[in-house]
Amino acid sequence: MPWYTEEQIEEVRAANDIVNVIGSYVKLKHSGGSYMGLCPFHNEKTPSFSVNQARQMYKCFGCGAGGNVITFVMEYENYTFPEALQSLADRAGITLKSIEPDGRHKEQESIRMLLLEINRKAGGYYYAMLKSPQGKAGYGYLKSRGLSDETIRHFGLGYAGQGGSSLYQFLRHEGYKDDILKETGLFKMDERSVYDKFFNRVIFPIMDVNSRVIGFGGRVMGDAKPKYLNSPETKLFDKSRNLFGLNYAKLGKNKNMILCEGYMDVIALHQAGFSNAVASLGTAFTIQQAGIIKRYTDEVLLTYDSDQAGQKAALRAVPMLRQAGINARIIHMEPYKDPDEFIKGLGADEFKKRMDSAENSFFFETGIARKEYDTADPEQNTKFYHVVAKMLLEFEDKVQRENYLEAVAAKYSLRRDDLKSLVVRYGTSMAGNQGAAAPGNYARRAVNITKNQGIGYSYKLLLSLMVERPGIFAQVKEVVREEDYFGEPYRQVAQMLYRQLAAGELVPARIINNFSEADVQNTVADMFQTGFAAGLGDEELEKALNELVIRIKEYSIDKRTRELTDINELKSLIQEKKALQTPAKLHIYLKDG
Ligand code: UTP
Ligand code: MN
Repeated sequence: MPWYTEEQIEEVRAANDIVNVIGSYVKLKHSGGSYMGLCPFHNEKTPSFSVNQARQMYKCFGCGAGGNVITFVMEYENYTFPEALQSLADRAGITLKSIEPDGRHKEQESIRMLLLEINRKAGGYYYAMLKSPQGKAGYGYLKSRGLSDETIRHFGLGYAGQGGSSLYQFLRHEGYKDDILKETGLFKMDERSVYDKFFNRVIFPIMDVNSRVIGFGGRVMGDAKPKYLNSPETKLFDKSRNLFGLNYAKLGKNKNMILCEGYMDVIALHQAGFSNAVASLGTAFTIQQAGIIKRYTDEVLLTYDSDQAGQKAALRAVPMLRQAGINARIIHMEPYKDPDEFIKGLGADEFKKRMDSAENSFFFETGIARKEYDTADPEQNTKFYHVVAKMLLEFEDKVQRENYLEAVAAKYSLRRDDLKSLVVRYGTSMAGNQGAAAPGNYARRAVNITKNQGIGYSYKLLLSLMVERPGIFAQVKEVVREEDYFGEPYRQVAQMLYRQLAAGELVPARIINNFSEADVQNTVADMFQTGFAAGLGDEELEKALNELVIRIKEYSIDKRTRELTDINELKSLIQEKKALQTPAKLHIYLKDG
């Protein structure tokens, strides 16, 4: 793959005005500070695709696609980065010269390559162990869960030995040094000793979409706790951006995907012939995962556990899927707990029937709300009307909203006209300024969603806020420093953005050039155009800003405390933490002075 200098990439980007380029593919209409059109990346009838000329970026508030002019051409034409760059260079009459990759890129790339290699070897080691006499307990356990040899091989399941450091010894013997082994997250290391993190567990390798092992989950073979241990996040392993089983699910000819909760559910479903099943990775489902699924399908069938926790998790996932432009339906598994047990109990044919009769996600949501209100009581009945009206506002498409209104009114015998007037009332009071309704709703949802999202989401909102209100940077950087961001691409983006802000030359579209993988570019683009500020008044915004700052700082202090090696640092960390408890002193004002 050819490499280009940062300067040359920037030259090409700057020479291709984004409104010009996108305008040649999509019909754009000037509105307010930006251009709006129908999103080319998902089906829609009302425009939620916005192109910002000043910022030279685009963003769809429906499906979340976003980036600069280069990523647009990549996504639209299905080009690789060099191909997109070439076509834009041609368009602007620039001659490209490729170069040898520089040291920093080489180093980062080679760390990733090494980690991939080590993970692959570790996976092979666990697998061999499972098949050896020492792995009898693990093999027997997987068999007792009904897995065939073929399934075990397909998913590369394994077994981690009796404890100690046998994996470590094996990898040392293969020639890997402690420095890199430390970064795999597979070991507990201190000055005097090293232990394997996983022992006496069956092992589930976690693969990325290209079937490369990026981490592991390990299950105890009985009832001990914790039931599952997972690899920590590493340079390779980002839990919010990968899905278990996606490497196989993406190949399926199925028109939809099945989203479930556990590794075992995915494996049981694949074994039963449903190779379109995926699961999140021991953490709650994220918006990023919804965006990734959206690349492959527009419909997701959710099969979360039948218990309260599963229902709550499904209720959280549905709006995220919807926001990504995915239509979700709910598969009910009663009287069984999860798909794995369902298939064992009733078999694949019955599961297929449940798939076919999966419930529309909107009715799933209203059904749960309905149970909360005693509709024989007039007070509560009124409340139910209000709740349903607010839920209907989630539909941005007028025709769709109208259809759902009719359907839900019929389903629960609600007075259609009353419901309708409530919807209109909430619609006007929530939108604030007409026309910006979509981004406004997005922002409102964003505030509520932060709590259930990983720290990355908070980084993103804070960074985007600084792009929108550069005036706050001077205050923010005194509290949240570059070192307070953890994980890539966040740390890298924060560093670049801080540098730009400090120099007073803000060109966020340029930052995207530094990343070559499409989904990383998308995250980065997203960081600068969350539309977060658009729907909020100054007072709300200032409140949200301060909550974000505190959350990020707190996370950083906790993380540094956990990873403490020098006990002398503890005192200063405790002091930093104390300072957070008197937020008045740290308060950041939206307006200077
Ligand atoms: P479940 O508890 O529903 O487990 O957790 P399961 O998948 O049905 O597992 P079996 O059938 O008992 O073997 C669902 C998912 O939540 C994560 C794992 O990813 C698991 O697959 N989890 C659960 C953890 O990460 N840690 C835990 O201790 C438990
Ligand atoms: Mn289970």
